[in-house]
Amino acid sequence: MTRRFVIVGTDTGVGKTVVSAALVGALGAHYWKPVQSGLEDETDSQTVARLSGAPPARIIPEAWRLKLPASPHISARAEGVEIDPARLVPPDVEGPLVIETAGGVMVPLTDDVLTVEVLARWRLPVILVARTALGTINHSLLTIEALRRRDIPILGVAFVGDEEAAPQETIARKGSVKALGRLPRLDPLNEDTLRAAFAASFSLADFA
Ligand SMILES: Nc1ncnc2c1ncn2[C@@H]1O[C@H](COP(=O)(O)OP(=O)(O)OP(=O)(O)O)[C@@H](O)[C@H]1O
Ligand SMILES: [Mg+2]
Repeated sequence: MTRRFVIVGTDTGVGKTVVSAALVGALGAHYWKPVQSGLEDETDSQTVARLSGAPPARIIPEAWRLKLPASPHISARAEGVEIDPARLVPPDVEGPLVIETAGGVMVPLTDDVLTVEVLARWRLPVILVARTALGTINHSLLTIEALRRRDIPILGVAFVGDEEAAPQETIARKGSVKALGRLPRLDPLNEDTLRAAFAASFSLADFA
């Protein structure tokens, strides 16, 4: 089994899918979004395919596709289904695999099971995606603490946003985590600009 990474965020909408797409492109990895809540807009799998150029064969189908854009346990209940966390098993694929979780690590998958509890079972290295903007120190350090107390390995933090040296340094130091790199706000955001931004700030050796 080769490299498998779990992309988690300090929150929803921080840039997990964009960071995932950058990694999938740079590593030639497979991508898996176990639980997709919200099917109206482009799904995360579709966004990753578009921004990474990965062929359909490298996008693993979601285990649960839920219509309502809400916390997975709420989206599932709205459709009269219940997510079975035991069935969330990272697939065996040839080459690296990037797994993107829903929302932040304390997001419930069922009334009883939190995302972080599934991460503890997997014990795969986690990449935390965090904003550089105000509020990130608190969100990032709380997330790191939640991962550490469950012995979930942390590969490092990927930042998204404008360069803010002080908060990035504080998170790395007080969280005892590696700052892997930073994606600036890209305009336009497309496969080419994303590939270039990732290459400019991240080191592939960190994902070896
Ligand atoms: N580096 C970037 N440059 C420009 N836009 C970005 C960048 N990173 C993220 N975005 C935009 O911010 C929004 C949220 O990003 P993204 O979908 O990656 O977040 P997420 O953490 O995956 O959210 P979710 O919890 O819904 O899965 C999207 O519209 C995305 O295009
Ligand atoms: Mg996403």
